[in-house]
Amino acid sequence: MTNHDFGLIGLAVMGQNLVLNVESRGFRVAVFNRTGSVTREFVAAHPGKAMFGATTLEEFVGSLARPRKIMIMVKAGAAVDAVIDSLVPLLDKDDIVIDGGNSLYTDTERRDERLRGLGLRFIGAGVSGGEEGARKGPAIMPGGPASTWEVMRPIFEAIAARAEGEPCVTHIGPGGSGHYVKMIHNGIEYGDMQLICEAYHLFKSAGFSASELAEVFTAWNDGDLESYLIQITAEIFRQTDPETGLPLVDLILDAAGQKGTGKWTLQSAIDNGVVISTIHAAVEARILSSMKERRVAASRIFDRPAESITARDKAALVGMVHDALYASKIVSYAQGLDLIATMSREKGWNLDLSRIAAIWRGGCIIRAKFLNPITEAYRADPSLENLMFAPFFRDALNRSQQRWREVVSMAALAGIPVPSFAASLAYYDSFRSAVLPANLLQAQRDFFGAHTYERTDRPRGEWFHTRWPEVAD
Ligand code: 6PG
Repeated sequence: MTNHDFGLIGLAVMGQNLVLNVESRGFRVAVFNRTGSVTREFVAAHPGKAMFGATTLEEFVGSLARPRKIMIMVKAGAAVDAVIDSLVPLLDKDDIVIDGGNSLYTDTERRDERLRGLGLRFIGAGVSGGEEGARKGPAIMPGGPASTWEVMRPIFEAIAARAEGEPCVTHIGPGGSGHYVKMIHNGIEYGDMQLICEAYHLFKSAGFSASELAEVFTAWNDGDLESYLIQITAEIFRQTDPETGLPLVDLILDAAGQKGTGKWTLQSAIDNGVVISTIHAAVEARILSSMKERRVAASRIFDRPAESITARDKAALVGMVHDALYASKIVSYAQGLDLIATMSREKGWNLDLSRIAAIWRGGCIIRAKFLNPITEAYRADPSLENLMFAPFFRDALNRSQQRWREVVSMAALAGIPVPSFAASLAYYDSFRSAVLPANLLQAQRDFFGAHTYERTDRPRGEWFHTRWPEVAD
């Protein structure tokens, strides 16, 4: 049979769920996995599906209608290149290869160039939503030529999640832009997760039980923090360990893992001169958490502050932390979107931030009600310089700032680390400060290195140097 509409290579959980999703939308699919037994077992476990399990790559490629549409769902990095290497000799002109993993966007650009040179077409598509999203409808962020997107569009739109009636997929832009936007999605995901963890840390320190925490997060999921991550957090607090009967969360080791997309986001921010301090703090919080033994040793030798968080009024604490979380989240998204906009200008990608925010409203890990006003803000002003300038978010920050400050200072006094709350607040305060102390910094640079400075009483672009006094060693 040579009439399959879609082929998928890599039958790990994401690949399996994605291909079941494609099949369920009426497409005939072919699958291939390097370990043949995985293919056989997968096909056998789903009888009656329009699904062909190929035993060789040749058979797989031969089973697809042309132009072939082949999605690779393998671990990012060398495995993607290995699959492409073995596919290339078997493909014909205009066949389409889609990498649906969390690939680094520069790898995507390299692969795109290579395949284009061979007369093939390549799409680097970020896919978000985890296992369940892949099966029921993920958010998809495809990057590549618009003409290739048009060929893939019917399948992508059929399998994507929907938000406000629109599919959560759009042509992001050329080259590596799809994977780039997915990378920033993940950076923002790190920020959201860390902010939630900091709220949890404060509540836990104030003596909230797991069931009280579940109630708080359930209530928050009915308000302006409504989101997938808040929802699953409430569920996590409800989960008890079957062996001990204790809340499962209390038995999970506090050492976080990470696979690299957060780190890449920071590297790109540094390269582009964009501040993403909330996400930065979130990545570093994971690193510090992973140093469990060192932290345990340090906890024995350093003094604790005299103060602790006592929640005489738990409801008031919940309200304060809510505002700190909401305001920090605004800052985090403002930073992440700033990075996308900067990179888009740098690379000439011409990315549409309102479309990107719109497709993040469903299917993906950061899906949230919060993305509606973000979509609206960029629709109203496509050249919006920073999300915080949008009236909706400006007002929210003005409303939240007092309690946000109280939370950060209360945490500092009680010795509870809130790196992402604090980094967001410091960013906000720097951002809204007409005057910062960098005049002194410029003087220091000029003092020791004759780096020159501009003056407040002269036009920008005129540079001055002072003969500073010599100092004794
Ligand atoms: C998603 C997720 C997914 C994955 C990340 C997280 O959008 O579906 O972001 O891609 O969970 O890779 O990775 P780490 O937390 O392990 O870095």
